[in-house]
Amino acid sequence: MENAVVLIVGAGPSGLAMAGCLTQHSIPYVILEREDCYASLWKKRTYDRLGLHLAKEFCFLPHKTLPPDAPTFMPKHYFLRYVDEYVSEFKINPRYHRSVESAFFDEAEKKWRIEANNTLEGSMEVYSAEFLVVATGENCEGFIPSLPGLDSFPGDILHSNRYKSGSKYKSKDVLVVGCGNSGMEIAYDLVDHGARTSIVIRSPLHVLTKELVHRGMSLLKYIPVYMVDAVITMLARLEYGDLTKYGIYKPKRGPFANKTATGRSPVIDVGTIKKIQDGEIEVVSDISSINKNNVVLKNGIEKKFDAIVFATGYRSTANKWLKDYKYALNGEGMPKNSFPEHWKGEKGLYCAGLSRRGLFGVSMDAQAIANDINKLTSGIN
Ligand SMILES: Cc1cc2nc3c(=O)[nH]c(=O)nc-3n(C[C@H](O)[C@H](O)[C@H](O)COP(=O)(O)OP(=O)(O)OC[C@H]3O[C@@H](n4cnc5c(N)ncnc54)[C@H](O)[C@@H]3O)c2cc1C
Ligand SMILES: *[C@@H]1O[C@H](CO)[C@@H](O)[C@H](O)[C@H]1NC(C)=O
Ligand SMILES: *[C@@H]1O[C@H](CO)[C@@H](O)[C@H](O)[C@H]1NC(C)=O
Repeated sequence: MENAVVLIVGAGPSGLAMAGCLTQHSIPYVILEREDCYASLWKKRTYDRLGLHLAKEFCFLPHKTLPPDAPTFMPKHYFLRYVDEYVSEFKINPRYHRSVESAFFDEAEKKWRIEANNTLEGSMEVYSAEFLVVATGENCEGFIPSLPGLDSFPGDILHSNRYKSGSKYKSKDVLVVGCGNSGMEIAYDLVDHGARTSIVIRSPLHVLTKELVHRGMSLLKYIPVYMVDAVITMLARLEYGDLTKYGIYKPKRGPFANKTATGRSPVIDVGTIKKIQDGEIEVVSDISSINKNNVVLKNGIEKKFDAIVFATGYRSTANKWLKDYKYALNGEGMPKNSFPEHWKGEKGLYCAGLSRRGLFGVSMDAQAIANDINKLTSGIN
């Protein structure tokens, strides 16, 4: 058994930010990662054309600024280069191929006991830690809804986290399910590669350009959210016109009011709307069932597809291994305490990066957690 002061599970941006902040306080830690690299979501489970959706002032890690000439909207490789520098600057050495399988609070020892599978050697390792930080991400596992007849579909069925590019779907009929950022961008990418593309849009949504989101987020610092929403939705209307004839309806609640309330971002358009307006992407209604290649829609129409891409979101899977999750998380593996106290659990348990606030939230959490641990340990050290 190995003793650690702080044990961090996950070496994504949250785990790395934690490591950076703890280093600033000279607090030792161990970081365990199930994959063979850090930032594995960004390196292995995102599509090729992905760039950062949010402007650079919201997308950096604590204690290291971005290069002054960084583009406002960074491409993925640019952000990853910054992450590489972060890792070498803070001398972060995650232990790879360590899949954490269980963690519980040992009441007798008053410490966390963590078991990780060393998947290279196939052996279990046991750690004991005063503080445990869950940094396994809100995008840990792709979620695919169960649809009647999906098993009978003979073509490709994949979650957006396995989609790389549309190159293999040229001249194929592809259905994208889900109209968040990933679904909208994947639909665009498919058309770009010559696929005949349809997208299921089943609920109302706000569509904004990334510049409008940027402007909105900046305005939020100065004026109340309902005014930001009024200004931004008016500008969006000027940009896109009336989208209801394409099956896209605006929700009642404004884009930033909803983001503040639920953390869910408005959809950031990368050019998909133009392709919908030009008839290159067809918007279809919700799916009722699937029968071999035929997808039956709720409005009774049937269409044939060669592949279905599910951009239907993600789930946190922390509860699968974190036996005593109740000290920080709810039944869904998300923070049980509400923002902005979401990061702090009981008995030395913390969660970083689970507030649905992107890299900005990651950064805030890591700093708050490290400060808290510093306060608690400075008496001891
Ligand atoms: C397509 C896409 C685009 C995005 N674009 C943006 C953007 O532009 N701007 C923005 O701010 N945010 C964006 N995000 C949000 C993004 O998830 C966060 O910015 C960031 O990746 C969260 O970091 P994280 O470390 O919390 O989680 P992750 O990056 O998911 O990292 C978690 C790590 O934990 C590891 N892990 C999980 N379970 C275990 C286990 N049991 N044992 C050991 N290791 C484990 C995983 O392998 C992974 O490496 C995007 C997300 C997606 C999916
Ligand atoms: C540990 O990982 C190996 C390799 O992935 C796997 O074969 C084995 O079943 C795992 N062991 C446990 C106890 O989960
Ligand atoms: C607000 O967010 C919730 C939860 O994330 C989502 O289900 C809903 O559709 C969103 N509503 C609006 C008005 O965007």
